[in-house]
Amino acid sequence: MLTSPPGPDAAPATLPAGDHSRFRSVAVVGAGLMGRRLAGVFASRGLRVALTDWDVSVLPEASRIAVELSHALGDAPGPVRTTTSLEDALDGVDLVTEAAVEDLSLKRELFARMARLAPDAVLASNSSVLPITMVAADIDDPSRAVGTHWWNPPDLIPIVEVVQGERTSLAVVADVMALLDHLGKRPVWVRRDVPGFVGNRLQHALWREAIALVAEGVADAETVDLVVRDTIGLRLGQMGPLTNADYVGLDLTRAIHEAVFPALDRSTEPSPVLDSLIRAGRSGAKSGQGLFAWPPGAREAAGAALASHITSELAARRGESGKQ
Ligand SMILES: NC(=O)c1ccc[n+]([C@@H]2O[C@H](COP(=O)([O-])OP(=O)(O)OC[C@H]3O[C@@H](n4cnc5c(N)ncnc54)[C@H](O)[C@@H]3O)[C@@H](O)[C@H]2O)c1
Repeated sequence: MLTSPPGPDAAPATLPAGDHSRFRSVAVVGAGLMGRRLAGVFASRGLRVALTDWDVSVLPEASRIAVELSHALGDAPGPVRTTTSLEDALDGVDLVTEAAVEDLSLKRELFARMARLAPDAVLASNSSVLPITMVAADIDDPSRAVGTHWWNPPDLIPIVEVVQGERTSLAVVADVMALLDHLGKRPVWVRRDVPGFVGNRLQHALWREAIALVAEGVADAETVDLVVRDTIGLRLGQMGPLTNADYVGLDLTRAIHEAVFPALDRSTEPSPVLDSLIRAGRSGAKSGQGLFAWPPGAREAAGAALASHITSELAARRGESGKQ
């Protein structure tokens, strides 16, 4: 709970100056979708990277992607080595970035082992929503634990949310932000360790309502996605919700909220629609069916189309800022 919200007119908080040079070697734990690409981004600026996963079968492809990415992003990339041994991976590293599955008890246990194996390293978690305070609950020195929420694909999306836990030291936040800046990312400081941080709280408020609209028969899934993409989706890349609230007027915003808030979905549990689809084996693109049908190749095509959209959107923005 917020006890004393800072409010819109609060003085901006400040961090000490950060130092990226303390990070020379990094271990990435979990070589899945995110971990392999994180390894590539770290290596692209010359850091030495150890990429580890307990599943040996994922390592060859993960290594190939990490190395390929490191060369695509940087001129003098550092080496990427792979191992199934956590102990080996964490030997002598300055930073550990955990990108294992989204499971609090697994991450807690992993953090406890990471803390023992890398007693001097900064310990970061790439959790999408779990507070770092909870992930690092079993380690002796939580001042060195920090959330670093990269977005997929992490080599393309510039923002990384850097989440300050209840006991994270400000120097650690500052140094990690300096490193991310050095890697060409745009780190943002999340000062309160709330589930979902900033981006996923907003994103999943929208998804909850989108699923509820379909469940209530207001519109089908195609229509809901079309309305999002071709209305608010067109605007959001240019104007965030708070700027938009000011732009249309806070009085209008207030009147809309008064009329619509009572009707919005306020479930505190995942939708039963998701439970029944999952039970029926329709868990989305990976199983060929979810809210939509996903024929073979459709998932890969969607990933490629998304990456191409993000790349051209970022290029257009760079072009725009170059004109000013
Ligand atoms: N996928 C996304 O879009 C996305 C975006 C942002 C953040 N994240 C977060 O990043 C993390 C990783 O997500 P992902 O999509 O890469 O998952 P993934 O399932 O693709 O990969 C996870 C990998 O971790 C390995 N692993 C699990 N437990 C391990 C352990 N104890 N030791 C070593 N390896 C272990 C698994 O074998 C697997 O290869 C999650 O916390 C997720 O919430 C995911």
